[in-house]
Amino acid sequence: MKSIRGYTITRGPLANAAGASRDFMRRAHRHLAHNLFSTHVKQCSMTAESFDPVAHNREAWDRQVDSDDEWTRPVDAETVARARGGDWSVVLIGYEAMPREWLPTELNGTRILGLASGGGQQGPVLAAAGAEVTVFDNSPKQLLRDEEVAARDGLQIRTVLGDMRDLSMFADGSFDVVFNPVSNVFCPELAPVWRESFRVLRPGGLLLTGFMNPDVFIFDEAALDRGELVVRHPLPFRSEDLPESDRLEVYGDGPLVYSHSLSEQIGGQLAAGFHLTHLHEGPHHADATAKYLPAYFATRALKP
Ligand SMILES: C[S@@+](CC[C@H](N)C(=O)[O-])C[C@H]1O[C@@H](n2cnc3c(N)ncnc32)[C@H](O)[C@@H]1O
Repeated sequence: MKSIRGYTITRGPLANAAGASRDFMRRAHRHLAHNLFSTHVKQCSMTAESFDPVAHNREAWDRQVDSDDEWTRPVDAETVARARGGDWSVVLIGYEAMPREWLPTELNGTRILGLASGGGQQGPVLAAAGAEVTVFDNSPKQLLRDEEVAARDGLQIRTVLGDMRDLSMFADGSFDVVFNPVSNVFCPELAPVWRESFRVLRPGGLLLTGFMNPDVFIFDEAALDRGELVVRHPLPFRSEDLPESDRLEVYGDGPLVYSHSLSEQIGGQLAAGFHLTHLHEGPHHADATAKYLPAYFATRALKP
C-alpha cells in the first residue's frame, strides 16, 4: 500500500519491503473482484457531501489488521521482556530507532499518549519500560492489538478509540509526552491535531511526531512500484481526489492519504505554540524515492 503511497507502501500498509507494494497491488485487484458492490457504494459516497474520510479510514485500517499489514503486527513477548530490563527502542519513522534522548531520562511514571499509534508496537514497549501509556487510535482492531499484548504480558495500557483531531476526552495537561508515529498522512487536516496535542500536554511536555515528506506525493505510484520516478501529481495530493479508477487501482480499499505541506506540519506545530527542539529527516525504508530524497521527517517539540 504505498498505500501505497501513503505510507503503506512506503511505510506501512503496504509494505515492508520493496515487493510489498506489488503485493498490495495484487491484493487490491483481488479486492476489486470480490467487492464490486461495496466498492460502487464507496465510489458514490466519496463524492457526496456527507463522505467522512476518517470513517472510511477506520474500516480501511481494520482491514489492514485482517490482512496482517506490517504496521499492525504486535511486538513479541521477548521484546517486551527486554524492554522491562531496560533494552528497548521505538520508531517514529520507518525502521529508524528514535534517539533515546528525545524522551525524558526517567520513563517511570511518565504519562505518554500514543497518538494514532495502535498495532501493539510502541505502546507495549514504552509501558514495559515504565511509562503510563494510553494508546489512542481510529481503528478498533489496531487498539485490540495493544490490548492483546497487554493481556499476554501483564502490562497496564489504556486504549481509547477516536479521531486524532478530537482529544476532548482528555483533560488539559494530562500527558507528559505525545508520541505520534507516522499517521497524519491518513488525517485530512492537521491544525486540530497540533492544537489538541498542545492542550493535553502539561507545560514542559513533549510532542514527538513522524510524518511524510510531501514531495514524495508528486510521483506516479505505479511507476514507483517499478522503481521509476515519474512526476505526475501537483501538491497538495489527496488520494480521494484521484479519478476513481486510478484510486482503486493503486489504493484499492486501503486508507485514503493526504500529502500535507511542511507549513501544515512544521508551521502548524509552531502556530499551535510548540517550540521545535529537533528535526530529523530519513529515507523511505522501502521505496524508490530512497535513493533521491528523504521520505520522512521526525520532529521533537516542546510545550513551553
Ligand atoms: C502506520 S499506523 C501507525 C502506528 C504504528 N504502530 C506505527 O508504528 O506506524 C497508522 C495508524 O494511524 C491510525 N489513524 C489513521 N487515521 C487516524 C485518525 N484520524 N485518528 C486516529 N488514528 C488514526 C490508523 O488506525 C493506524 O493505526
